Order: sequence, then structure tokens, then C-alpha cells
Amino acid sequence: MLDDRTRWNTKYRDEIHHANVNANLVRYAHLLKRGRVLDLAGGLGQNGAWLASQSNAFRVINTDISEEGASRASNKTARVVADAARLPFPNHTFDTILNVRFFDPRVKFSEWLANGGTIFFETFTTADEKYRPDFNPAHRFDLARIPEIFRGLEILRQYETDDGKRFYVTVIARRGDS
Ligand SMILES: C[S@@+](CC[C@H](N)C(=O)[O-])C[C@H]1O[C@@H](n2cnc3c(N)ncnc32)[C@H](O)[C@@H]1O
Repeated sequence: MLDDRTRWNTKYRDEIHHANVNANLVRYAHLLKRGRVLDLAGGLGQNGAWLASQSNAFRVINTDISEEGASRASNKTARVVADAARLPFPNHTFDTILNVRFFDPRVKFSEWLANGGTIFFETFTTADEKYRPDFNPAHRFDLARIPEIFRGLEILRQYETDDGKRFYVTVIARRGDS
């Protein structure tokens, strides 16, 4: 089986990608802390670029494992090619993390967030099997993992959506100030 980097490099090289800004990010951006922003597995970078366009106080770094994706990504943000589990930053660097259409259980959000930092998380859930039975089950998020994945964080919003084409969960959470 191809590793993620090879698979995504091939996709970015060979397919045309439509990268829409996430609608719930637009809806809830006011809840997100300004400062250093990590767009984790940001792909073409449209979400981070949109956030950066809202205020100079959002200083966004798009990280992604695919150098092909990074080379095509928005130049409105910094871009770093890196595996989500091996980011080249010190702990507690980020005031906000965006995690959109991606899930990697190795990532410990509370380690990356600074005090008072926020996370916008949206990804496909196990229920999405209804629409895409062929999708790799390892990339579907089981809602039962929320307490583990967001341990130490206060959940501000949490809901699952069935839009008729996809099932996905949206979570907005915040790390305490101390
Ligand atoms: C469905 S795309 C989502 C991209 C972007 N977040 C968005 O919503 O448009 C998934 C992204 O995850 C990246 N990716 C996959 N495995 C990764 C890993 N281990 N570390 C970092 N990025 C990874 C891929 O290269 C791809 O850009």
C-alpha cells in the first residue's frame, strides 16, 4: 500500500483540486484565538489563507506531508512540508490549530496549543461509510474518541452533520489559560 506522502503527491500532481474554504470555519472564526495559527495538513491552504485574510493578527503556517500540495498551496501563508506527527516546532507554539478533513491519532493537540489556544477540527466520521464505503476506515473519526483526542481542552462546540453527501463532525475546543 502507498504511504500517505506518495499517495497525496500523486493526487496533487495528477488531479484537479477544488479547495473551498470550510463553511463552518467562516461561521466560527470569531471563536478562534488570534496569533500563531497552524493549518495542520492544510493541503492547498485555502482555510489558513482565508483566516489570514480576516486579520493580520492571524499569522498562519500551513504544514502538509505533500511537497506537491505545498508547491501548489496558497502563498498567502507560510508553508512547511512535514508529517503531522513530526512537526518542527516547540510544544505550545500555536494560538489556533485548524484541522480540516484530516485525522491523525498520533497528533496531541493539547501539546501544540499555547495557553488559551483554540482548535477548529472538522473531519469525516465513521457514519460516513454510508456514503463512501471504499474510503480508508483508518481516516474516519469515531466520535467515541472525542474525550481522548481533546483531553485537557474545553469543548466550545461539537456536532455531527449529515449533508446528504458526507457525514462529518465539527469540534471547536480551547485550552485553559494555566
Ligand atoms: C483531504 S486533504 C485536506 C486538506 C485541507 N486541510 C483541506 O481541508 O482542504 C488531506 C491532506 O492531508 C495531508 N496529509 C496526509 N497525511 C498527512 C500526514 N501524515 N501529515 C501531514 N499531512 C498529511 C495530505 O497531503 C492532504 O493535503
